[in-house]
Amino acid sequence: MRNVVCLLGSPRPKGNSAVMAQALCDAAEEAGARVRTFALNKLTYRGCQGCLACKKDAEACVLDDGLTPVLEAVRACDVLVLATPVYFGEVTAQLKGFIDRTFSYLKAGYAHLPRGERSRLATGKTLVFVIAQGHPREDLFTDIFPRYEYLLGWQGFTKSRLLRACSVYHLGDAAARPEVLEEARALGRELAAEE
Ligand SMILES: Cc1cc2nc3c(=O)[nH]c(=O)nc-3n(C[C@H](O)[C@H](O)[C@H](O)COP(=O)(O)O)c2cc1C
Repeated sequence: MRNVVCLLGSPRPKGNSAVMAQALCDAAEEAGARVRTFALNKLTYRGCQGCLACKKDAEACVLDDGLTPVLEAVRACDVLVLATPVYFGEVTAQLKGFIDRTFSYLKAGYAHLPRGERSRLATGKTLVFVIAQGHPREDLFTDIFPRYEYLLGWQGFTKSRLLRACSVYHLGDAAARPEVLEEARALGRELAAEE
């Protein structure tokens, strides 16, 4: 059974990125996957403190806060779904806070290790980015996905997928786009069936 962990990066619980992620996760669950969803905005946590404890004695992040169980769940997942709106050309601060804390997944001396051996996580995990973008221009903000695809590749996410909708701004915009929801469901089914 595929273990899917979904992190919602929007402060809007019923926002466009959450609706897209939900369609994906519901379909994955119906197809047999186990799904756990965390709404990051409901958690209290700090960004990475750069203490480098995880590169000395500790094997995990030494901060003990709302992200601790999330980091543990992601460590064990097969598929990680990161859902976010575009905020000022980037992921939300809520999601960036999580991404920075995944620094703790990298082994001590990671920079000198071959790419496939840098992570404390098992390799072969799948990263799925779900992006809701208000601006209609599809050529804008295309840098977000490849940047995190590259960086999280270091952590063991060697496969990656993107579900992106442009021109979704107000609450309900993504829910009114059947083709977006169908793409989300198809991706969910595919991820549940992955080996
Ligand atoms: C603080 C803030 C910054 C935003 N910045 C951008 C942006 O840079 N580019 C863009 O296309 N849309 C931007 N938007 C619009 C959101 O991406 C859009 O409303 C999206 O659908 C929100 O996703 P959500 O419903 O999941 O919260 C911004 C919205 C807010 C509130």
